[in-house]
Amino acid sequence: MQGGYGQPRVQGQAAGFEGVGRVVAGNGALAEKLVGQRVAFLGTVTGTWARHALSDAALCIPLHDAVSDADAAALIVNPLTAVALVDRVKTAKSQSFILNAAGSQLGRLILGLARDEGLAAIAVIRRSGVEDDLRDAGADAVLVTSADDFTKSARAAIKAHKPRVLLDAVGDQATADLFFAMPNGTRWVSYGKMSDEAPTLSQMGQFIFMDKHIEGFWLSRWLPSAPPERRTAVVTQVQERFASGKWSTRVAAELPLDSAIDRILPMLATGRGKVMIRP
Ligand SMILES: NC(=O)c1ccc[n+]([C@@H]2O[C@H](COP(=O)([O-])OP(=O)(O)OC[C@H]3O[C@@H](n4cnc5c(N)ncnc54)[C@H](OP(=O)(O)O)[C@@H]3O)[C@@H](O)[C@H]2O)c1
Repeated sequence: MQGGYGQPRVQGQAAGFEGVGRVVAGNGALAEKLVGQRVAFLGTVTGTWARHALSDAALCIPLHDAVSDADAAALIVNPLTAVALVDRVKTAKSQSFILNAAGSQLGRLILGLARDEGLAAIAVIRRSGVEDDLRDAGADAVLVTSADDFTKSARAAIKAHKPRVLLDAVGDQATADLFFAMPNGTRWVSYGKMSDEAPTLSQMGQFIFMDKHIEGFWLSRWLPSAPPERRTAVVTQVQERFASGKWSTRVAAELPLDSAIDRILPMLATGRGKVMIRP
């Protein structure tokens, strides 16, 4: 809505990347087969904050009955990203990784998946309060950037686990400092920019002498580039994780569409989870 997400805003068109709904009409053989089905979908033609939305049939996922509407409404963007980012850790052949904004919805999905894949996760948050939650969700260690002992605890965790991937949704100075404290060959994967701060890269020599890299991740690029069989496997995997209760979507509130604009920000600020909009 603020125009900062790599896509132009279109005046008069609803916002909203994804949702859940029942297909009421379709053009073409694939779409016609979906009519009547409950699907998770991306709002690829019109935004999803609407009573009716248009999507590409190929981006509609027919749902298992065991997947709740709340999980289905957030089944694509964060869950697929969680799988793709954990894949990055595995591709880097690192047994552990650091993850910031770890209390986010996506962070918690990554923690649960990583634990099931046998990877050790060092979770970073900006303020204390959810450490036990995150350990329950799958974190091996939890670091709090505002704590007095942050630098010391971070050094100890890096020494113990030797993480070579940094999954970053924040992009602040604490993130850059962690990156420069990490071992040879570390990949800093930037997939979100929640901080307004621009970090200073203080140790450029590490790119030359320690084989360190900074790279980006965007699901919108990953999806079309992944082989079709991998995409199908990932979609099956995320549905199974929700259906079996291994993953769930934290929901702070459900709002009717006509009052969403006025009420959504205070609800999001509670930190209790996503806000669902029900048209
Ligand atoms: N690249 C991609 O393809 C892709 C795909 C999906 C998601 N994402 C990105 O992933 C991130 C998480 O998404 P989400 O839906 O899981 O979000 P969310 O649940 O709304 O996440 C909110 C969390 O972020 C933390 N946070 C907010 N601003 C912060 C800051 N300046 N410094 C540190 N922590 C901060 C909050 O911490 P407090 O609890 O302390 O407030 C809260 O835990 C977003 O940046 C999103 O854009 C990227």
